[in-house]
Amino acid sequence: MPLVTFNDILPQARAEKRAVAAFNVANLETVLSVFKAAEALKAPVIIQVYQRLFKDERASLIAAMVKRLASESDIPIALHLDHGESLEQLRAAIAIGYTSVMIDGSKLSFAENIALSAEAARISHDAGVTLEAEIGHVPFGDGAIELSTAAEAEAFVAKTGVDALAISIGTVHGFYKQAPVLDIGRAREIGEKVGIPLVLHGGTGVPEDQLRLAISSGVAKINIATELQSLFLKRVAAELAACGDTFKPVDLCIKPVEADVQAYVRAKIRSLS
Ligand code: 13P
Repeated sequence: MPLVTFNDILPQARAEKRAVAAFNVANLETVLSVFKAAEALKAPVIIQVYQRLFKDERASLIAAMVKRLASESDIPIALHLDHGESLEQLRAAIAIGYTSVMIDGSKLSFAENIALSAEAARISHDAGVTLEAEIGHVPFGDGAIELSTAAEAEAFVAKTGVDALAISIGTVHGFYKQAPVLDIGRAREIGEKVGIPLVLHGGTGVPEDQLRLAISSGVAKINIATELQSLFLKRVAAELAACGDTFKPVDLCIKPVEADVQAYVRAKIRSLS
């Protein structure tokens, strides 16, 4: 089937108190692994691409692969630009077939974030794609967390018309030094004020019980990048080490890696459904 937008999968997920997993892919093997895992479970999935990969041909080559795989499948797949930096980047993603985009104004002032996200929503909706935006700030690594508030969430959604809202309730991007404790009370308050699907960035390393509580509060999309990509790289390194001085062609070396990444993705999708 053709690629779908967030509106085809996330409102229903929120209503049914489950989340659609959104995996950050970066190459053929990560795309194939995510696709095959979702296909095996007949589960909807979001394949997302970080904004840096739009700076060369990677994002459009990944789009071609994902469109081709989706056309031969009957699972709903959304293809999403993650952490879009500018309206130009959103337009470029839409032009190459991304069905959903994120504008990340989370480092701007609240008023500037509203203005940018409202314009991004207009551009996205005119093109028939969905928009995610972020309030508060989920940092990368050691940066400072800025928690989202229910009042800001309510005002932001009303003034921008975004389709999905990323909230900051205690996660960060990347590995944690110690497991996080999410502010579930805050997530609940936001979920009560805002009816659209909420998004949790920084899914790596968050304990499953915390994720389930976030889902019961209205989170319908959970982003996972570090855990998946780190597993991929570590397994490639292990396969290479196992070869010793013997050369193994790339496809043969990576086959067992793909199997392990698929198993990881299947387990993650099951745990969020
Ligand atoms: P992690 O790298 O912590 O899984 O976060 C992914 C993410 O939120 C991508 O936007």
